[in-house]
Amino acid sequence: MSLNVIQSISDMQSISNALRKEGKSIACVPTMGYLHEGHASLIREAVKHHDIVITTIFINPLQFGPKEDFERYPRDTERDIAIILAAGGKYVFIPSIYEMYPPEFQTTISIGNISKSFEGLYRPGHFEGVATVVAKLFAATKPDAAYFGQKDYQQTLVIKQMVKDLNMGIDIQVIPTLRESSGLAMSSRNVYLSPKEKKSALVLQSALQTGLSLIRDGNRRRISIEESMKDILAGCPEFEIQYCNAALGDTLEMPDEFSETDQIVLLIAGFLGKTRLIDNMTWSSK
Ligand code: PAJ
Repeated sequence: MSLNVIQSISDMQSISNALRKEGKSIACVPTMGYLHEGHASLIREAVKHHDIVITTIFINPLQFGPKEDFERYPRDTERDIAIILAAGGKYVFIPSIYEMYPPEFQTTISIGNISKSFEGLYRPGHFEGVATVVAKLFAATKPDAAYFGQKDYQQTLVIKQMVKDLNMGIDIQVIPTLRESSGLAMSSRNVYLSPKEKKSALVLQSALQTGLSLIRDGNRRRISIEESMKDILAGCPEFEIQYCNAALGDTLEMPDEFSETDQIVLLIAGFLGKTRLIDNMTWSSK
């Protein structure tokens, strides 16, 4: 079967309404395109649990800072369509910028504490842009559930908070980070990396693994976990650290000492040359 490509918000809403009337369950997988296996894993998981999976492709200008890569963000819609079909997706929503943000557009969603630290500190306005576009994509696709990657850990918390606070009634599912065989977290932005930078980028995952093994061995002192991760990162001076922290998995708070039962997330972000990389790993006793 070929893919249903929908471009207007009103068409998308009519299609969703009709599918809902037929009793179909709908899942939405929001993306910015230039899809890779990580995105495909979200689609595949959604296909397992829902009758209809709508992948959305929209490079959202609202979530990019003025000095970020909006203009050069990679795109290849034909390839994306092939990946969606191969993953079992049958619907794709690809609105234009004008469709999403007509000139008279004037509403944004701002989220509190959970969006202010980490990415929020280094990318002011980013989560306001993410929350606003995701709310619009939800309003267009009217899903029962939506699938997000753990790769963007804080994003998953921000979206869950928004869905809860605004009573959107959408089940948010988080899917583990897919990695290349080297261990590098898959990302559309990896195309910016030179072969040498791709090798250097592995330092992020070494640092995270080091942090995890300390926690596994019973170390719960935040500073000592962070210092060990930073020591590993220091072995790759080309990587310019923005943050490298251990935090509580649900609130992103940073106590001096974690308890035995805390879910912990290790978060790293920084630049390798001109490319910004983020990665994380979680630990929980359960
Ligand atoms: P994008 O970076 O295209 O990512 C789309 C979804 O794929 C996100 O939920 C992201 O976490 C997930 N993803 C990316 N790399 C992954 C990997 N290696 N393994 C598993 N999942 C991965 O995130 C965005 O777009 C945007 O902020 C968006 C939510 C679409 C709003 O514009």
